Amino acid sequence: MGDKLEFPKNFVWGTATAGHQIEGHNNTSDWWVFEHEGKILDGTVSGRCMDYWNKYDEDHALMNKLGYPAFRLGIEWAKVEPRDGHFDKQAIARYRAILQSLRDRNIRVCLTLYHWVLPLWFAAKGGWTNKHAADRFLRYVELIVDELGEYPEWWVTLNEPLVPSLAGYLAGEFPPEKKSFKLYGEVTGTLLECHARSYQLIHKKAPAAPGRTSPNAGIAQAYQWIEPWGSDGLGAVAEKVAARIFRHGSFAGWDESVASGRAQFPFGSREIPNLQNSYDFCGVNYYFRMSLKFDPTKTDTAMMDLQAMPEGIEQTEMGWQIYPPGFHKILMETWKRFGKPIYITENGIADTADKVRPRYLLWHLRQVHRAIQDGADIQGYFHWSFMDNFEWKEGFCKQFGLVAVDHQDPALARRPRRSAEMFSAIIAENAITEDLVKEYAPQALDGVFGDQWME
Ligand code: FCB
Repeated sequence: MGDKLEFPKNFVWGTATAGHQIEGHNNTSDWWVFEHEGKILDGTVSGRCMDYWNKYDEDHALMNKLGYPAFRLGIEWAKVEPRDGHFDKQAIARYRAILQSLRDRNIRVCLTLYHWVLPLWFAAKGGWTNKHAADRFLRYVELIVDELGEYPEWWVTLNEPLVPSLAGYLAGEFPPEKKSFKLYGEVTGTLLECHARSYQLIHKKAPAAPGRTSPNAGIAQAYQWIEPWGSDGLGAVAEKVAARIFRHGSFAGWDESVASGRAQFPFGSREIPNLQNSYDFCGVNYYFRMSLKFDPTKTDTAMMDLQAMPEGIEQTEMGWQIYPPGFHKILMETWKRFGKPIYITENGIADTADKVRPRYLLWHLRQVHRAIQDGADIQGYFHWSFMDNFEWKEGFCKQFGLVAVDHQDPALARRPRRSAEMFSAIIAENAITEDLVKEYAPQALDGVFGDQWME
């Protein structure tokens, strides 16, 4: 028989994407302009991207063929509202056609309303720093709920809200390239408000999710496992303090705000109406560990080297540590903090040759399974990503897809990688079997059934 990790009955299996990263033609957005200013590291621009905008039905057919039952996708605000107050009927009709195609193919829908990209007009008026920002966002959300509210089984109001506020307003890496601690705090406060109000609106206006009495909404949060490196002396103290601050600033402070209903420092220290407990589920995005190493020369990052690699740890093409136990720790923390059902809304690896992905995926699913055994109510897993896509500032060179797509191929042919097939086999069994591990990634055996990664 051999070993086997079985997942709960009704466990939801799917893949995740974001509008701007696959659709193409998002030419009234702030990212489009940023790309054309030459800001993308590999010199590419999103352009027609993977042309999901036109190829969606083929992609959904491929999902059917691969046996992937659920799909996380996004709506691009810039397409829906290309000018202030002007809603584009054709764009809305296209989104309806996309969602209808998923329905016709029995693919369950998780819909993201904001995944970092803004309409150009909104960005020009100060983006998230404009005093009417939340009202403008809610106007768009209301339109989507009214027009498309019948489709999603899960709503993700915001994807990783701390990323645009940290990368866009503190680190100056993403649009609008600001470097201001004050703005980072204010923008995060605004995003908390946007989430709370969207959650309310969805509950007021959207139909109940299938099999439920009300809609199902949350966010997808980026959780890194953040640890002190373990230097000696003063360095050790600095690392411990920094780890707490980094955790607070990149997800824990947000989570505390939602749990308490009060925006924590530095997000405004104010009550936000309807914020408290505004999650029907917790969406967990997990990719890597960060080991903060004291280094006084790193003045931009609070004297911490954020790229330090512990010995024996493998890194991905993104330069991220492969550290599966961090996933288990994050899942258990999230479960303890909220006690709500958890969905893995993203987890995956940039791996062009698909050499590491099979074992990365198996190792991480083992940690999901382990957290379920430890009592966490984890209801689904969406792998990032269905296909190769436009990886933000990195451009097309970082390939996260189960399905390979060469952005330079005129036909943009979809080619499932071996791990796409492996994922199909796991879904079909609702389990990871020893035979499967031996077939796809024999090096992963100890990390799936044995002691490796059990810290
Ligand atoms: C996440 C983002 C997603 C993708 C993956 C690799 O942080 O939500 O859009 O870029 O990382």
